[in-house]
Amino acid sequence: MKVLIVYDSVYGNTEKIAKAIGGAIIGEVKVLRVNEANPSELETIGLLVVGSPTQGGRPTPAIRTLLNKVPEASLQGINVAAFDTRMSTKLVAVFGYAAGRIAGNLKGKGGTLIAPPEGFFIKGIKGPLKEGELERAAGWAKGILESKR
Ligand SMILES: Cc1cc2nc3c(=O)[nH]c(=O)nc-3n(C[C@H](O)[C@H](O)[C@H](O)COP(=O)(O)O)c2cc1C
Repeated sequence: MKVLIVYDSVYGNTEKIAKAIGGAIIGEVKVLRVNEANPSELETIGLLVVGSPTQGGRPTPAIRTLLNKVPEASLQGINVAAFDTRMSTKLVAVFGYAAGRIAGNLKGKGGTLIAPPEGFFIKGIKGPLKEGELERAAGWAKGILESKR
């Protein structure tokens, strides 16, 4: 199965998670920053994973723009999953998180959500990631693929 992982990252934390996910998947995997991704690539893939930093409870503007460019119903027959990076403070919980919103959008375009949206934790606005999050990301990726066997 061809796998495409698209991410955005301001301080590099979400990029590290995206690469850990990509590294855990055996097969034809592409990990692309959002500005390198083109919705036309979607037609040939089996699994699309989209990840973003949570900003104001939402994905970044670049991820939102990309999602808006994905045509209605174009993800039919494509497995999808979403993740974000986020802070663990209760204060930000009221805004919600990026991953659920990304997953909702991908599902709305016809994608088959194959894993619950997942968040990976950082220690401060610029990071670093909390200990063990890269390993947890790799495990999350393996879990997604196991569900397809
Ligand atoms: C403008 C801005 C808004 C943010 N809003 C939230 C938020 O609503 N919830 C949250 O958990 N983290 C929030 N954060 C923290 C980001 O999630 C954090 O910067 C991000 O996970 C780091 O990922 P990156 O290194 O890939 O950019 C915000 C950060 C910025 C810069």
